[in-house]
Amino acid sequence: MSVVLGVGGGIAAYKVAYLLRLFTEAGHNVNVIPTEASTRFVGVATWEALSGNPVTNNVFEGVEKVNHVRLGHEADLIVVAPATADLLSRAAAGQADDLLTTTLLMARGPVLFAPAMHSEMWGHAATAANVATLRSRGITVLEPAVGRLTGVDSGPGRLPEPEQIFAAALELMASAGTAERTELAGRTVTITAGGTREPLDPVRFLGNRSSGKQGVALATAALQAGARVRLIAAHMDVPAPEGVELVTVETALELREAALAAAAGSDAIIMAAAVADFRPARLSASKIKKQDDVADPVITLVRTPDILAELVRERESTGRRQVIVGFAAETGDEQSDVLGYARAKLERKGCDLLVVNQVGANRIFGADDTEVVILDRRGTEPVTAEGSKTDVAAAVVGLVGAALTAL
Ligand code: CTP
Repeated sequence: MSVVLGVGGGIAAYKVAYLLRLFTEAGHNVNVIPTEASTRFVGVATWEALSGNPVTNNVFEGVEKVNHVRLGHEADLIVVAPATADLLSRAAAGQADDLLTTTLLMARGPVLFAPAMHSEMWGHAATAANVATLRSRGITVLEPAVGRLTGVDSGPGRLPEPEQIFAAALELMASAGTAERTELAGRTVTITAGGTREPLDPVRFLGNRSSGKQGVALATAALQAGARVRLIAAHMDVPAPEGVELVTVETALELREAALAAAAGSDAIIMAAAVADFRPARLSASKIKKQDDVADPVITLVRTPDILAELVRERESTGRRQVIVGFAAETGDEQSDVLGYARAKLERKGCDLLVVNQVGANRIFGADDTEVVILDRRGTEPVTAEGSKTDVAAAVVGLVGAALTAL
């Protein structure tokens, strides 16, 4: 998508550099138009480096390309942050005295303002009237956040967090039909990733070999499909992608708590985390020491709650319309093959989709390429997806979207 990011002359302009990253990481092409005043806070070079596009605020630069007409027409979305009192006023009055305001007058797609200013300025009747005018024209003006402002004052007037502005922008694009129309646009998807670690004592834990790569690839694919993504990350070898709402956890019990909390507002939950099935029954408060005159310790394990099954039960009891995806790592044995075990697991857990990996020494864990079979509870033909974890993620996210529309 093509996004115009207008930057107003307020100290919060520095936070917009991160907002820009969120857009570019999610694959959008962003043209930044800073006001003259804003370049006193963040220079043009920063916007050019982060967006990868030339940046100007001068209507008389590149006249032959008629920049304001082109940018305004081509933009699928215009976001203005921070929207200062002055910018809101100029936009409401329909002024066209710099590249940003002329571009705003040429806009054909949705427009989003994220205001930031001192509380008194936000509360002033003139600003309130400007905001009301803009909203009456169908423009979205976010409420500023409440909190510490520049200097010693605090109150309403803080720029909303970049993640919030980004989420509002995605929603706006989805509802305006300018986002790629994927079924996930504007939906909330919770993804668990990585491997839990169950502590034995302050320095030791029982863990597993999950790298978190598949969960991260899923989060990226869901972001690209326009979803708002909550990533619940147990231990991962890779960083979480920018643009997700990240919750980090350590143990199965912490992951359970985070997943149940996130489930309430989620359209889909993808349980890609490798959750420990057992944890030490007892956590030693101090390091377990080897002692020559005492027998070697025996570690007793207890079962952890099955979070996936619990999520399914909760969905049934609340009547929520939600797609739940489980993962299975199977080796197969003399009693059943991989698919046999997987089908039984799908039935037992009651999730909608089950992504089945065949594992064994040196297979899948940490590898970049993989092959999975995706089973659907509705009994449709299993889908095989192979290639990079990105390819597999795209297939899973596509099936989640299809399952959501079928609900
Ligand atoms: N899972 C969970 N809670 C657990 C354990 C696993 O929610 N305590 C989830 C995983 O995130 C994954 C799926 O359940 O989506 C894997 O199921 P699981 O029963 O752990 O599979 P296996 O460990 O392979 O089970 P089994 O030993 O029965 O084969």
